[in-house]
Amino acid sequence: MEQYNKEDLIRLLSSQGNDYKMLMKRALETKKLHIGNTIYLRGLIEYSNICRKNCFYCGVRKDNKIVRYQLSDEEVYQCADMAMELGYGSLAIQSGERNDREFTDKITELVFNIKQRSNNKLGITLSCGEQKEEVYKEWFDAGAHRYLLRIESSTPSLYYKIHPQTKEHDFETRLNAVYSLLSLGYQVGTGVMIGLPFQTIEHLADDLLFFKKLNVAMVGMGPFIPHPDTPLWQYHTQIPDDRTRLQLTMKMIACLRLMMPKINMVAATANQTLAEDGREQAVLAGANIIMPNLTPTKYREQYLIYPDKACVGDKPNECRNCLYGRMKKIGHEIGYNLWGDSQAFLSQSED
Ligand code: 5AD
Ligand code: SF4
Ligand code: FES
Repeated sequence: MEQYNKEDLIRLLSSQGNDYKMLMKRALETKKLHIGNTIYLRGLIEYSNICRKNCFYCGVRKDNKIVRYQLSDEEVYQCADMAMELGYGSLAIQSGERNDREFTDKITELVFNIKQRSNNKLGITLSCGEQKEEVYKEWFDAGAHRYLLRIESSTPSLYYKIHPQTKEHDFETRLNAVYSLLSLGYQVGTGVMIGLPFQTIEHLADDLLFFKKLNVAMVGMGPFIPHPDTPLWQYHTQIPDDRTRLQLTMKMIACLRLMMPKINMVAATANQTLAEDGREQAVLAGANIIMPNLTPTKYREQYLIYPDKACVGDKPNECRNCLYGRMKKIGHEIGYNLWGDSQAFLSQSED
C-alpha cells in the first residue's frame, strides 16, 4: 500500500505519456493482487428526479422545469425482480434529495420489502442524499447496508463555487452526514467530480487524501460533464477538454487504487459519455464496480443529471450482455449473484 503525500499525488496526477501508462499498469496489478479481476454489479434504480436542491452542475436541479417523476412501488419491485433474473447481486437506489416523512418512510418500506421478496439475496445500496442520522438508521435497520454520498469536493471553497450559498447546501452538514453513515455501520462510499470549473490538481490531491483519512469502503468518482441547462455551463469552455478530463479521472482512480488497494471503486457511466470505452478504461485503471441501469425506459430521459448519458435507450438484458462482452474483452469477469462487498470494509470488521 502506498503512503503518498500531497506532493507525490500532484506529481502522479500530472503524469503523461509513459508515466501515465506505468501508473495504469501498477494500479491494475495492485487491484488484481488484492481483490482480483472480478467486476461486481449494482443494478441502478433512478427512483425519482424530485429534488430539493439546486446544485450548479446538475440537470435535475430544483429550478429546472422538467417533468418530475417517482416510480410506483410496483415498478421498483419489478426492477428488483429484474436484477434477480439478470444475476445482479445488488441494487442501488438513487434519488433526488427529499427529507419529508412521506419520502423517507417510503424508502424504508421499499428496502424492507425488497429484502423480503429477494430472500435477502439482493444487497442494497442507497444514494438518497443528506438525511438526519435517525433516517439513515431506519434505512439501515430496514436492510440497506451500503450508502453513497459524494462529498463532490473536499475543499469547502470549491464546494461553495459549485453549490448555491443556501442552508440546503452546507459543506459541514454534508460532511457530518458522511460521518453519521460511517458511525452507523454502513459501507460508506463518497467521491467527487473531476474536471470541474475552478478545480485544480491540488484540490484533487486533497480529495484523495480525504478518502484515505475517512477510510471509506467505496469511492465513486467520475468526470464532470457540463449540462447546458445549469449555471456551471457558462464555464464549459474553461474546463479541460474531454480527453484530459477522462485521463485525469483515470489518474485519480489509479492513484486511489494504489493508496487503498481493497476498496470498491466504481467505473462511472459518465466515463462512457467522454469515450466509447470510458468504463473499460476505468476498470483497467483500478475500478471494480459497474452500475447498469434498471430504471424503466420511459423515465430515463427525465433523469439526465448530465447530457449524453450512456445506455439511456438500452434494455436491461442488452446492458447485461454488453457488459459481459466488454469485460471479457479486457480480461475481467463479472461476479453474478454476489453482493460484492468492499474487501476493505470486511477485513476491517474482522479486526
Ligand atoms: N457531470 C457529472 N456528474 C454529475 N453529477 C451530477 N451532475 C453531474 C454532471 N453534470 C454527479 C454528482 C452526484 C451524482 C449523483 O452525479 O457527483 O453526486
Ligand atoms: Fe439534487 Fe443530487 Fe442533482 Fe444536487 S446532484 S440537484 S442533490 S439530484
Ligand atoms: Fe448498456 Fe452497453 S452497458 S448497452
